[in-house]
Amino acid sequence: MTILVTGGAGFIGSNFVLDWLAQSDEPVLTLDALTYAGNRENLASLAGDARHTFVHGDITDRALVDRLMAEHRPRAIVHFAAESHVDRSIHGPGAFIRTNIQGTFTLLEAARMHWQALADEAKAAFRFLHVSTDEVYGSLAPDAPAFTETHPFEPNSPYSASKAASDHLVRAWHHTYGLPVLTTNCSNNYGPYHFPEKLIPLMIVNALAGKPLPVYGDGQQIRDWLYVKDHCAAIRRVLEAGRLGETYNVGGWNEKANIDIVKTVCALLDEMQPSAEGPYARLITYVKDRPGHDRRYAIDARKLEHELGWKPAETFETGIRKTVRWVLDHPDWVQRVQSGAYRDWVATQYPA
Ligand code: NAD
Ligand code: DAU
Repeated sequence: MTILVTGGAGFIGSNFVLDWLAQSDEPVLTLDALTYAGNRENLASLAGDARHTFVHGDITDRALVDRLMAEHRPRAIVHFAAESHVDRSIHGPGAFIRTNIQGTFTLLEAARMHWQALADEAKAAFRFLHVSTDEVYGSLAPDAPAFTETHPFEPNSPYSASKAASDHLVRAWHHTYGLPVLTTNCSNNYGPYHFPEKLIPLMIVNALAGKPLPVYGDGQQIRDWLYVKDHCAAIRRVLEAGRLGETYNVGGWNEKANIDIVKTVCALLDEMQPSAEGPYARLITYVKDRPGHDRRYAIDARKLEHELGWKPAETFETGIRKTVRWVLDHPDWVQRVQSGAYRDWVATQYPA
C-alpha cells in the first residue's frame, strides 16, 4: 500500500508527510514541482527512509502522473499541490489557473483511468482526497454565521476562484464517473515550515530582523486560525472514514483580527527574544489594503466533529506559542528560505 501526496514539499504537505510517517509505516510517494513554495529541506529528516519516495515533477504532466500511478499503484491520492498565496494570485493569476485547475483536472483524469482498471476490492478502497480552502465561500458579514459545507461558493480572488473551480471538478468526477472523492475546506493554517510570505511567519521573521510589520488596511479583517498539525489530523481522519463525495469543513473556532494576531506575535517575541530596541509592536506599520480583500472567514466544523469525531488538539494560544518557538529554534531554515539558498538544498545534500 502507498499513498501519493502532491505538494508534499510545501507548508501543509510537508507537515502531512512527516506526521503520516511518524504514525504509520505505509509508504508515501511525494510528487512536487518545487516551485518557490516547495522546499525539500522540509522533508530532510526522511532522507534515507525507504518508506518515502520523492519525485520532482509537475501535476500537469499527465505522462508522468500516469507512469507514477502504474509504478506505485497508490491506494489513495492526497492532493495538496497548488499555488496558494492570494497576493501572488493578484499579481499573476496564470500559474493559479494552470496548477490549481489544469493540474487538478490532470490528476483526476489519471486517477480515474487508474481506478477504473482496479479489481473490485481495490476499486472500492481507492480514495482521491482534495485539500481545499474556506476562501471558496467568499467573505462573511461581521455577524453572519460561520461557513457550513452548504454555503454558496462566492470566491473573490483569482486564488479562491481557481480553488473553487478545482472543487467543482472534483465533485463532478464523483457525480459523473463515480470516482471516490473527498474534499476538505480548511481555514487559515499556521505552524512549522510556513513560508514567510504569509501573515504569521512574515511577522515573526520581519520582527526579528527589525523590519516593518506590514498590516493591510485597517487590520480588522478576520481569519479563523488552525494549527497545521490539527489540519493534517483532520485529513487523515477524512481519508480513513469520510463519506464518499462529501465535503468537510476544517477549522478550530479561532476567529482573530489580523492586528490582534500581529500584536500576539509581538508579545510572544518580547517574552522569548526581547529586542534591545524596545517592544516589537513599535514595528507595526499600516499599509495599502489588498485589492478585493475578504473581510471575514469563519468555519463551522461541526460536520467533521460530529460525524468523524475530529477535534483540534491545539488552542490558538498553545499553537502560536509553538510556532514562534519553532521559528526561533530554526534560524538556519529561515535564513536559507530568505536568502533563496533553500532552492539549492537538493544539490548541496545530494551532490551529483
Ligand atoms: P504551499 O504554497 O506552501 O505549498 C504548495 C506546494 O505545491 C509546494 O511544495 C509547491 O512546490 C507545490 N506545487 C505547486 N505547483 C505545483 C505543480 N504544478 N505540480 C506539483 N507541485 C506543485 O501551500 P500550502 O499552504 O501548504 O497549501 C497546501 C494546500 O492546502 C493548497 O491546496 C491550499 O489551497 C490548501 N489550503 C491551504 C491553507 C493555508 O492556510 N495555507 C488553508 C486551507 C487550504
Ligand atoms: O483561509 C485559508 C487560506 O489562508 C488559504 O487557502 C491560503 O492558501 C492561505 O494563504 C491563507 O490566505 P490568506 O490570504 O488569509 O493568508 P495570508 O497569510 O496571506 O493573509 C492573512 C491575513 O493577513 C489577510 O487578511 C491579509 C493580511 N496580511 C497578509 C500579509 C501577507 C497583512 O495584513 N499583511 C501581510 O503582509
